[in-house]
Amino acid sequence: MIDIHNHVIYEFDDGAKSLEESLDMLKMAADQGISDVFATSHFNEVLNPKMEEDYFRKLKVLQEETGQRNIPVRVHSGSEIFFHHYMEQTIKKRRTSTLGDQGLYVLMEFPLYLMPSGVEETLFKLNMEGYIPIVAHPERYSALHEKPEKILNFIRFGGLLQVNAGSLLGDFGRTVKKIAIWLVENQYVHFVASDAHSKGGRCFKLAKAAAMLEEHCDKSYIETIVTHNPQKIIDNEKLEKLTIPEHQEQSSGSLLQRVKQRLRLAR
Ligand SMILES: [Fe+2]
Repeated sequence: MIDIHNHVIYEFDDGAKSLEESLDMLKMAADQGISDVFATSHFNEVLNPKMEEDYFRKLKVLQEETGQRNIPVRVHSGSEIFFHHYMEQTIKKRRTSTLGDQGLYVLMEFPLYLMPSGVEETLFKLNMEGYIPIVAHPERYSALHEKPEKILNFIRFGGLLQVNAGSLLGDFGRTVKKIAIWLVENQYVHFVASDAHSKGGRCFKLAKAAAMLEEHCDKSYIETIVTHNPQKIIDNEKLEKLTIPEHQEQSSGSLLQRVKQRLRLAR
């Protein structure tokens, strides 16, 4: 298995608090059969540009230490980029790492309690620039809880979905769990990942989530979302996007047409 979302870099964000905790987390990952992780520390565009140097320095230390201590997990670079309207420019300027620093897959997140305007346009622009955005834990955004079908708009605008293992296991409450299961049962999801922050409650739990998913999905789909799709990120291969039909109430011009229109107007 490959875990594409976690905060295993030490003393950087709200993840691992020390190098020792990072290494303990990686041991836990290895013990459950995770071979590779993308260390996706939070990135906010208002952060000091020097933060990225600090990130890569700590990533290197972690990579060396896992080798020296025989922890069989490869640590790849990455970031979880907090939504802003000019994300494609931030990425082009290489202010933060795309997944594996390969310039293709971009893990992004939104505020948990409020969905900003301009999300569709930003996803669309990222696609136009050749990036593949991955929306982190769509099931956790409470602004979408009343109408979870709105999550499908992320897919319509070229996003892939990553559901948290903890959401499937009920760590974030019943509503989040229900939405997470609905998303995987309908195969709207390209990735399940741990979003691990510590060696405690929010730890790596991909194996547990994969086992739990056996009640809901067939084994080949589970393997796809915990191993095969993440492997394609490592291999820098493009994943097949999903096609989601438009809602009936949006029939007066597709979302795509309306965004194109708005982008034209904005020029
Ligand atoms: Fe995260």
